[in-house]
Amino acid sequence: MKHEWSSRLTFILAAVGSAVGLGNVWKFPYITGEYGGGFFIFAYLFCVALIGLPIMLTEIALGRRGKHSPVNTLAELSLEAGASPRWNLLGWSGMIAGCLILSYYSVIAGEVMAYTFRAASGMFTQQTADGIKGIFNTLTSDAEKLLAWHTLFIVLTVVAVARGVKGGIEKTVTFLMPALFIVLLVLVGYAMNSGGFSQALDFMFTPDMDKFFYARNDAGAYLVDANGEKIFTWKALMVAMGHAFFTLSLGMGAIMMYGSYLNRHVSIGKMAMIIVSLDTLVALLAGLAIFPLVFVNNLDPASGPGLIFETLPLAFASMPGGAFIGTLFFALLFFAALSSAISLIEPTVAFLIESKKMRRIKATAWTGFVIWLTGLATIFSMTGLTLKDIGEALLGAIGLDEIELNSALFQYNPFQVIDFFTASIMLPLGGMLIAIFAGWIMDRESTQREFSFSNRFIYPVWYFMVRYISPVLVLMVFLNIIGIFSFD
Ligand code: PHE
Repeated sequence: MKHEWSSRLTFILAAVGSAVGLGNVWKFPYITGEYGGGFFIFAYLFCVALIGLPIMLTEIALGRRGKHSPVNTLAELSLEAGASPRWNLLGWSGMIAGCLILSYYSVIAGEVMAYTFRAASGMFTQQTADGIKGIFNTLTSDAEKLLAWHTLFIVLTVVAVARGVKGGIEKTVTFLMPALFIVLLVLVGYAMNSGGFSQALDFMFTPDMDKFFYARNDAGAYLVDANGEKIFTWKALMVAMGHAFFTLSLGMGAIMMYGSYLNRHVSIGKMAMIIVSLDTLVALLAGLAIFPLVFVNNLDPASGPGLIFETLPLAFASMPGGAFIGTLFFALLFFAALSSAISLIEPTVAFLIESKKMRRIKATAWTGFVIWLTGLATIFSMTGLTLKDIGEALLGAIGLDEIELNSALFQYNPFQVIDFFTASIMLPLGGMLIAIFAGWIMDRESTQREFSFSNRFIYPVWYFMVRYISPVLVLMVFLNIIGIFSFD
């Protein structure tokens, strides 16, 4: 057989490395803030348990059985099951989703790198909340700086992947993940004594259905229709479900890819449990580190993608040894992002090597280039580009300048669109189809064999979940949205 992980521990580390990343530390807190806290976390945990865990098992099992990149694994397994080889389209959509996600992931990871240097230079020391906000605004309004960091991050990802997954990932994650964990604990310890802890607990764990189900404006006030009634929306539920996929790296083939390097004699049940638990723990710790600072400094939990860049530096500003801990924190987060980025691009690279007979270096460089280019859309989003600007420029080019694009939809920026489309639509859809494929298309013997080293209760539970529960839940969320769904 081709590559295999050196041990089951390295598989766990690589999969945790993929799962734990900006999703846990940057995205989870800010979307939790935007969708009102408690009920959002509740919905997210519910999706992790009932959808994420079974699909994590499915991806590992299928990957290990197929032993190829997702496109070819799916082609082979559908052949084995006597089904249409078109199931490999799922692998294709996964590759596209992975590249689109990495295009913005890299821009944020670039900001994390920039912050590592800012923390090290003592820039945050003794700053006020306004000063820290200013530092963030200065960075995000400078397209050239963002571009430089984005470029550097893509180059680093390409170098790591070009050297082969094993060499790069195994070494980095072995000491990184534990270190990140410890620094997060230190930050939670600081946050506990900051005076905002109980408010944060309240925010995170007291369900507030209204904030979850009714649309609000940027200032947090509820929107109302012509009759003065609050406007119902499913968007938060979609985002919560999408995030369960995003944070566990599911629905686009990353875990399937890593599963393909896994030895046959490993209990995949245990693996999946460990990966999912660690990922969830890191996200909750990040929330517990960040929200106390939000409340004690009178910041807005719904301030969006800048949340960690505006809160955590405040902790580093006033804690003893803050410059050191801050540098360590952002450096570790950068590595966590890098190990996730590697898994976002690997399915595409492996596919190009297998099917197009490209050399690894060439495959990685080309994929990296396309992603880098796509990342420009996110950079310009940070500096203020909206769909309205793009639309009006296009209309202007064909001589229709007088048309004004006023629908609410046009206020979104390309980053928000790419993020929503990939995380909230492509990943859940991909995951749902993978579950259907494993539960309904593949024959029982093939799937059962992959569970032979797991506890004997796991298989029947998994089988039931992927047939009746996980895909049905995803479908229900989607069906609810069709017809009632509106983007705002
Ligand atoms: N799970 C990663 C994170 O939370 C992101 C990711 C998504 C990685 C999809 C791979 C595939 O940061």
